[in-house]
Amino acid sequence: MLGMAVSPMRLAHCSDLHLLSHDGARWLELANKRWIGAMNLLSSRSRHYHVAAFETMVEDMNALGIDHVLCTGDVTNLALRREFEFAKGKFDKLANGPVGVTVIPGNHDAYVAEGVPLFQEMFGAYATTDPGWEWAEDHRHDADDILHWPIVRVRDDVALIGLSTSRATPWFTAYGKVGHGQLERLAMVLSDPRLAGKVRIVAIHHPPAGKRATSRIRGLRDHTEFAHVIGEHGAELIVHGHEHQDLTEVLPGPGGAMVPVRGIASGTYFHNKPERVARYRIFEITSGQIVSDHVRVWDRERGLFEANPNPGT
Ligand SMILES: [Fe+2]
Ligand SMILES: [Fe+2]
Repeated sequence: MLGMAVSPMRLAHCSDLHLLSHDGARWLELANKRWIGAMNLLSSRSRHYHVAAFETMVEDMNALGIDHVLCTGDVTNLALRREFEFAKGKFDKLANGPVGVTVIPGNHDAYVAEGVPLFQEMFGAYATTDPGWEWAEDHRHDADDILHWPIVRVRDDVALIGLSTSRATPWFTAYGKVGHGQLERLAMVLSDPRLAGKVRIVAIHHPPAGKRATSRIRGLRDHTEFAHVIGEHGAELIVHGHEHQDLTEVLPGPGGAMVPVRGIASGTYFHNKPERVARYRIFEITSGQIVSDHVRVWDRERGLFEANPNPGT
């Protein structure tokens, strides 16, 4: 209506929750002895990653009436069924419901090969693609190509494009890969006339730009090819997780445009360094443009999220 201010769409980006139930170590021991090493990993993790932070984050997002929540993966630690069940129970508390919440997998959600179908089974409602964006068999690149990805979810002026870079990797590695087939389909999505004028936001777990992308141990193996697709077809924003840090990079788009690449710290971590404390970022989008962003940070003592008390961190 003429003269009325249009309230911006608010998109919340969180990542790397690594949710672990209190009885996690106990059921793991009962479940399978081969997970002794994993139990050690879990017991050290449980001291740093706090389920309470995500529970509080959900309350904060619900109270703010966030329009859409986007999580860039690592919802679990070891991709076990009980972990996915536990994590899904927490996501189900978001008032938006699956239509207003998008989750893509991280490498921890594919810690073992069974994690890939388990993510689909347990978090499938949070990773649907809109009608008309399903991939037909003739889009398959090779036998290993998972045709589910990328997903496309159009919400108001925003087109969320979710990728999966997660596959079971050898022990002590945590790298990701988009893969030829998914890259081809990403190019098709980004250039699709149905998305003309939309704010195209690409969600990917692994960092696709900067020096972290180049790590052979934990980077994105095909970051060069990914950058090529962005260089050719552009995007308005790329968000990622995996590094558990607030990061800002850019990738060149077509015609000299620079596409912002934003990483967010873990949503459940607690640390003495303020910049590592659990947080999430809100992007505000108006009239087809991202107009602002800011982070909200967990205050563990007070049990709430608030505007970043240490701006610049
Ligand atoms: Fe992570
Ligand atoms: Fe990760």
